[in-house]
Amino acid sequence: MIERRKLGAGGPEMGRIGYGAMVLEGYYGPSDDSQAVRTIHRALDLGVSMIDTADFYGNGHNEVLVGSALKGQRDRAFLCTKFGIVSDESESGSELMTGRGFPLKINGSASYAGRALDASLRRLKTDSIDLWYLHYPDPATPIEETVDAMAAAVRAGKVRYLGLSNVSAEQVRRAHAVHPIAAVQYEYSLWRREAERDLLPSLRELGIALVGWSPLGSGFLAGNTDTPQVNDVRNGDPRYSQQNLTVNRDRFAPLSDIAAELGITNAQLALAWLLHQGADIFPIPGTRREERVLENTKAASVHLNAGVLQRIDGLARIGTASGGTLL
Ligand SMILES: NC(=O)c1ccc[n+]([C@@H]2O[C@H](COP(=O)([O-])OP(=O)(O)OC[C@H]3O[C@@H](n4cnc5c(N)ncnc54)[C@H](OP(=O)(O)O)[C@@H]3O)[C@@H](O)[C@H]2O)c1
Repeated sequence: MIERRKLGAGGPEMGRIGYGAMVLEGYYGPSDDSQAVRTIHRALDLGVSMIDTADFYGNGHNEVLVGSALKGQRDRAFLCTKFGIVSDESESGSELMTGRGFPLKINGSASYAGRALDASLRRLKTDSIDLWYLHYPDPATPIEETVDAMAAAVRAGKVRYLGLSNVSAEQVRRAHAVHPIAAVQYEYSLWRREAERDLLPSLRELGIALVGWSPLGSGFLAGNTDTPQVNDVRNGDPRYSQQNLTVNRDRFAPLSDIAAELGITNAQLALAWLLHQGADIFPIPGTRREERVLENTKAASVHLNAGVLQRIDGLARIGTASGGTLL
């Protein structure tokens, strides 16, 4: 079973490795709904509690899928979802350019938050969400206003804990002053360690957990270093461009040697390294395959000694990955 830790200073205890359901929407290749449900069940059976979705994934379909997987067993999961990226054309929002070359429409207003939450609850077929994140801060709405609206949902019993995603240390401080934030979700992996600079020290000071998204580098750190197929969302990730991919393969190849020496897989090395960065780090790897959920959760039992950690540190520093930031 996976080791359990408190989520932030005031949160509940849960398995340190979660499950990210975004991959079940075909962003990284086709996915089958029945297989997806079996994969989520496998995760729960293996002691994964944190199941991560968002209203944006599959334009609401991902929440429906997760809701159907949790039918009759809602209490086994620590259910996390997000709002703030607008898919509905009738809703307004501010344009936010992403590092993947496409813009997102963001709305963090109080009225939109209320509508988004009720829609998420309906799709997830639940009375309450365990952790409700703001997916991206709205450039047009002060974060205090958004978090105030989110806090109203806690008071109404529709949400247990609040989270933020893709925020700066300064935004977290402002938000946390309005209502306690249990967790911040941010990209964190061996090829994206920028969170260590300002964000993680602030989270530690405030007693907030860091939930690491794309902990396997969207597959690259698990050994999937081929050029993505057409229609794969990774084509927009600068680290997967033909030129950067060639550089990154060379730069990160020594990690495979370390994994082989230790008799573990690349994915297990990447996840074990994250778990060794502190008890407040909760990676949420995504996979469509049941057997890989088992492989990934086994990373929780891998011990990396100081010498190995030092070698990894030397190989995968901030800036080692060729290709710009994604936020
Ligand atoms: N807050 C945000 O803005 C944000 C952004 C991105 C992601 N997220 C969250 O983070 C979660 C995880 O991120 P992610 O899915 O982007 O990336 P990831 O977990 O780093 O990587 C997923 C990819 O790795 C492959 N994979 C998983 N385990 C593997 C293994 N043991 N061996 C080989 N390949 C393996 C999967 O392929 P197979 O399916 O073929 O196994 C999939 O293509 C998402 O589901 C989502 O919940 C949040």
